[in-house]
Parts: sequence; C-alpha cells; structure tokens
Amino acid sequence: MCGITGYIGDGITLDEDDDAGAAAGNGGVASVGDIVHEGLRNLEYRGYDSAGVALVGETSGLTVAKRSGEVDNLTVPDVPDATLGVGHTRWSTHGPPTDANAHPHTDCAGDVAVVHNGIVENHEALKRELADHEFTSDTDTEVIPHLIEEELAAQRGEGDLLNAVRAVEVRLEGSYAICAVREGEDEIVVARRGSPLVLGRDDDATFVASDVTAFLEHTRDVTYLEDGDVAALSADGVEIYADGDLVDRGVETVTWEADAAEKGGYEHYMRKEIHEQPEALRQTIAGRLDVDGGDVDLDVSFPPGFLADLEEIQIVACGTSNYAGRYAAQLFEELSGVRATVEIASEYEFGAGRSPDRTLVVAVTQSGETADTLGAVRRANAAGARTFAVTNTLGSTVTREVDDTAFIRAGPEIGVAATKTFASQVATLTMLAVAIGRERGALGAADARPVLEGLRDLPGAVQQVLDAEPKVREAATEYGDSEAFFFVGRQLGVPVALEGALKLKEISYDHAEGFAAGELKHGPLALVTPDTPVLAVLTDGARADETMNNVTEAQTRGAPAIGCVSAGEEYGTLDVSLPVPDVGLVEPLVANVYLQLFAYHVANDKDRSIDKPRNLAKSVTVE
Ligand code: AGP
Repeated sequence: MCGITGYIGDGITLDEDDDAGAAAGNGGVASVGDIVHEGLRNLEYRGYDSAGVALVGETSGLTVAKRSGEVDNLTVPDVPDATLGVGHTRWSTHGPPTDANAHPHTDCAGDVAVVHNGIVENHEALKRELADHEFTSDTDTEVIPHLIEEELAAQRGEGDLLNAVRAVEVRLEGSYAICAVREGEDEIVVARRGSPLVLGRDDDATFVASDVTAFLEHTRDVTYLEDGDVAALSADGVEIYADGDLVDRGVETVTWEADAAEKGGYEHYMRKEIHEQPEALRQTIAGRLDVDGGDVDLDVSFPPGFLADLEEIQIVACGTSNYAGRYAAQLFEELSGVRATVEIASEYEFGAGRSPDRTLVVAVTQSGETADTLGAVRRANAAGARTFAVTNTLGSTVTREVDDTAFIRAGPEIGVAATKTFASQVATLTMLAVAIGRERGALGAADARPVLEGLRDLPGAVQQVLDAEPKVREAATEYGDSEAFFFVGRQLGVPVALEGALKLKEISYDHAEGFAAGELKHGPLALVTPDTPVLAVLTDGARADETMNNVTEAQTRGAPAIGCVSAGEEYGTLDVSLPVPDVGLVEPLVANVYLQLFAYHVANDKDRSIDKPRNLAKSVTVE
C-alpha cells in the first residue's frame, strides 16, 4: 500500500503555523513542490521505503526527483514555474526499495511521469509488448508511462494525456490508482480501480491523493473517485469520466481532524486496519491465483528435486504469526502431503534425527525483525536446512537471512495488535501450501481449485463480516465486563481461537485463553462460570457439532456462548450467532474478523491504549 498525491494550482499563501508554509520559507507561499512534499509527509504511514515527485512547469518542462528512504530524505527540486506536481511514497511489492524503483516512473523520452498505488498483474505480458522501450526499474508500474508513450505516438501528436490514459487504463489488470503528468500539458490525469483516490478542490487549485490526509489542511471539500473512473484535473476544476461518459461524483465535506484522517476517520489504527483487510487481501492475492488452472504463482522457486524429496516443513514464529503458522501447518499437510510442525521461535531447535537437506524451515514474521524468529532462522541455517520467510516488510533482516521470501503485501500495519497481517499471512501460506502440493504432484488442479476460489472470494467474505460489526459491538458491550474469556475451536478453528484470545488480552488487558474445544472438559471447565463467556469458532464443517457439544458443556455451567457459525448452520442455544460466509479452507480466517472486532470494542469500551497497549511493542527486536 503506497501513498500518492498531487496538486495543480499557483501555490498557496499559508498561515505562518502551517507546515508547508513553514517549509516554504519564501514569505509563506508554498510552491507546488512544497505542497506535494508536504502531502507525502502526511501519507508516510502508508509506505516509507522510497519517495519521489514529478513537477511540470511551462518553461522548465518535466522535473523528476526520487530516492530510496523516507520522505524527508527526498530533496524536492526548486522549480519556480511549476504549476502542477505529483508525488509518491512507496511500500514495495515489486522490486527492492532502490532509487531506480522509486516512483515516479517515466517513458523513454522523459516527457511522461506516473505514480501508482496497487499492482499491475499483467505487467510482464505488457512489458513484452514494449520490448523496444528502455526500462530502468524492476517495478510493475514502469509499464504504464511506456504504454502512455505508445498511445501518444499512435495519436501522432493530436492526442492528449487524458485520451492516452483512458486507452491504457483498460489494458491494465489488477488494482491501481495512478496519477500521470506530461510535459507541455497543464493537467494531471488520474485513474482508479481497486485502490483509493480522492480529489480536493480549493478556489483555484485541485488536489488528489490516496486519502484526504495528504491535503486536509488545505481543503475539506472532497470527491471520492469510483472504480473505473478516469479524471482530468486542472486548477479550474475536474472532469471525471466513467465508461467514456462525463459523470458527477458529488462533493463531500470531511469533518475529521488531520490526526483522525491519517486513521481514515477511524479512532484507532487498529480498527482502520481491521477494515483494511479486504483491500490488503486483494493485494496479497493479486496476480498470484490461477483459479481456472488450479495453480498459484508466488514468484519463488526451489532447487530441482527439493520439493519431491521434502520430508518436513518446520514453521517458526511468535505471537500472532505463530498462530498463522499453526493454521498453515494443517494446510501444508492437507494440501502438500508433507509433515508440518510449528514451533514457538524462541523454543526452536532444528532437532535430532531430521534430514536438513529434506527440511524446509518457514519463518512467519510480519516485521521481519523479531529477534526470536531471527534466532530460529539462524539455528535452522546452521543445521543446513533450507529456509523461507513469509513477511510483510521488504528489505527486512529476515529476507536477507533466508533462501526465499514470499511477501504478504498487507501494507504498513501501525497498530501493535496484528490484524490485517494475520489474514494476509494465512492467505500467503495457503498459496504456498498449494504451490508445494502442486509441484510435488500431491495436489491436482481440480482439488486445488476450491481452495483458490476460497482465496479469491476471501476479500468479499471479510467485507460481509465487517458489515456485521454492529452486532459484534453489541456483544462486546453485553459481555465486555466479564471476569475472563474463553476462545475455542477445532482443527483450523484452534489457531483462530488462540489468536482471538491473544487479540483480546493484548489490548483489553482482560484474561483470555484459547484452546481446542475438546480440551475444555480436561481441566479448563473448572474455571467456567456465568461470568466467563465462551467464544466458539464453529466453522469446522462436519466437526462443528462436536465443538458445539463442548460449548454446551460450558453453557450448562452458566457461561454465555458466542458462536461464529458457517452460513446456513444454526445452533439455537447460542446467545449470539455470527454468520460466516463459506469460503472453504479459509472460512475460519473469516471468523477471526469477528474476534478482532470483539476484542477491539471490548478494549475501546474500557478506553484502553488500543494502538499502543501497555508493555508491548510492534516489533520485538530483543530476545
Ligand atoms: C500480535 O498482535 C503481537 N503484535 C505479537 O504477538 C506479534 O505477532 C509477534 O511479536 C510477532 O511479530 P512479527 O510477526 O513481526 O514477527
């Protein structure tokens, strides 16, 4: 998830205490470059491994500056005659965070510059069509300015940027929000499909950004573009086209304060990130599923014969990532036919009696910096095993210490409590299990297809649960003051129960415990009272009835019961029944969203420090 922003106008006379005004220095009039740079600073939470700007002035032409590192590392050129500019702060998905891979990207002639948020899934096919063009980066984005260049050439000088972008936009597959500028044209042309873009209007200026945070200090009158929209922005106004027709998307007035805007209007990053899961999951799976072919492409490769001889997969991780690993271990065995074990990273040793050359050690870590997990990786490397990382963070330490890496592409996660990254981790690990199963011949295309259909439908299923948030909020208010909370499940529901308990305890500070439902009667039932609600993951198909029997054992001791239930199933004795759309093997992952929301609202009702819970850190870099 990257941040893009743009401005067209004559600069802004600012109040002394305005950030861009202070940066301007020339009597408080912020230049186009200052305004775009300030917009990037406001978007930096969306991505911060490289940044760049493109400015256009009547005599100066197109000026591009970009470099790896944070936004403040970028020196924006002084272009006094610039009347428009676009900027980008990157969260890398394709290509490491280098100066060359930073946006904007330009065409061969250096006349067109583009910034992009999202993934062009068909970039390799498009790049092959552009074989006579000179590419300077490893990114998917760079095909866009070259396609625009081709369109402008085809229009033999009669064309303009708007028509070129409209012709290119229909050829792109995947999710994107793009801003394009061209030397000699006094317009910014933008397009969105799957990634957000919002416009802002001031008297004689127009803003565009990934979200209102970028320009909220200048205007609160905004227009949200819809998927498929292409728009031409000028200082005088905006023309928005949908399917070739001019449309009016209306103007809304944003009431948030800037700080809240960075959270997308949510009170906490955690709730924003819970609600970002559909977008994050779309990024996670983009370009990686071949549903019809029953296969995946994670862009990783193993040595010839390695997977055929593979005897064991050892997963090492901590906290939420460990629970994602426990979820994956079941899928690895079911889909790839390989024995899989999960270890808490701090406890991990390679173990005796195992064949290092036939063992794959998978480190699951969103930050890529967790010391316990890095320690486990080093022990696995020392034992001679092949190591693999599933992480959210390009350039992180773990990526430099393993043999291969698959990125979960969830975008930055600010809240200490992991939410969207758990979902993206499980989705990525599910794809890895399919890839290994297919390559080993243990999983046929027909058997893989339902799994991939579930992944394809996952973002929509999660959205359905998010839409049911009011019901979960009621449950949180009803039961939030309980003495303790038990989370139970079976099979794939167990790691979700463990994760649900962790979410609640780490942000509400209440005692919560997750375990296999069948274990209740082997001890924990002694703790069950009318003041200890049981939250059950009842999506386990045939065995959900057994889980419900275990829940009933708790209910007969007076405990309230909240169930996440497969759509269409009904358990009449539940105090709260939360329907889960059917997406096959990833259905328990959808149930987890209810548990995230429950934890959030219990903690919020107690006014906890939700984004920064006491005693915890987002990345635990000490052992
Ligand atoms: C989860 O909400 C916590 N933030 C914590 O358990 C976290 O999952 C754990 O520290 C592992 O972090 P990592 O994924 O960055 O390695």
